[in-house]
Amino acid sequence: MKRMILPAVKENIGCAVDYLKQGALVVLPTETVYGLGADATNGVAVAQIFAVKERPQFNPLIVHVSDVNMAMRYVEVDPLSYKLMDHFWPGPLTFILPLRRKSGIHPLVTTGLTTLAVRSPQGIFSKIIAAFDAPVAAPSANRSGRVSPTNAVAVTEDIGSQVPLILDGGPCSVGIESTIIKVGGDAVLLLRPGGISRAEIEKVAGFPVLRLDQHTAIEAPGMLDSHYAPDAAVRLDVVEIYEGEALLAFGSKRAKKSEKAIAILNLSPFGDIKEAATHLFDYLRRLDRRDISRIAVEPVPPEGLGEAINDRLVRAAAPREKG
Ligand code: TXA
Ligand code: MG
Repeated sequence: MKRMILPAVKENIGCAVDYLKQGALVVLPTETVYGLGADATNGVAVAQIFAVKERPQFNPLIVHVSDVNMAMRYVEVDPLSYKLMDHFWPGPLTFILPLRRKSGIHPLVTTGLTTLAVRSPQGIFSKIIAAFDAPVAAPSANRSGRVSPTNAVAVTEDIGSQVPLILDGGPCSVGIESTIIKVGGDAVLLLRPGGISRAEIEKVAGFPVLRLDQHTAIEAPGMLDSHYAPDAAVRLDVVEIYEGEALLAFGSKRAKKSEKAIAILNLSPFGDIKEAATHLFDYLRRLDRRDISRIAVEPVPPEGLGEAINDRLVRAAAPREKG
């Protein structure tokens, strides 16, 4: 099978579908981050995702569908989840829902859980799923534990040599992964903050969105503490820059001694939180250079997408689990 990077245009939908049908991996752009896709009903194909990412086998995958109707083939959709899907799909919101019996989803996808994570992504990916007419399992297209890719170059650097087809759709418009929720009786549980803010969900749901404690949340086994980690160390909420550091800035006011920084990238000079989300992973990767021992990060406000940005930053700064 030829190794190719093709533009994400409608002329290449057929090619992506052919690869998926043959059980091959395909990197696909989404509005959040690039996904490493495989036929979710094909165990051999799904196993390759885990192998390429070096992903722990206990960490389940999100299955991508073209719309709500397709989701209902695989999971039981309660009325509130339906309402939220109807409002936010296609878009960066993932639902954890009871898996249907005989869904055809390979058990490797759910790592044996009785629930399935489903999402309908924006853009060409959705058209590919519709043409394929089968669910596509796709985690972020990076090695496990590393910074998620928001452009095709980042994918290529990380896992490019191991994937037969990459569709290049340019930079991702949201830039941070989907929000993951689970609808309970009279509340919505937030498993991972992401591209749709808590406030947006609360407005449509009419219920509070509660953060599930990460350590009791075995329901989200992928919520490992150290994640999104560049090689350089990461120091958060800095007010002053030290020797040897690069600065990941936010807004118009600089930390003290910023002139010492080896390099500076500003997530959003005007303090726009959505703009900051689109740059976060790309800038972390760009500052992760050999001459930089540590990335110092200025405080990012927690409102809106700031919750997801801070979640990723805390994980990037967490003690590393492996060398
Ligand atoms: O924006 C996104 O969600 C991207 C794009 C490609 O769609 N995908 C993504 O996938 O971020 P991944 O594999 O990097 O993260 C999926 C998360 C993991 O933390 C996993 O533990 C959690 O979803 N997850 C998957 N299935 C689950 C389940 N049944 N219950 C709880 N958590 C689940
Ligand atoms: Mg990921």
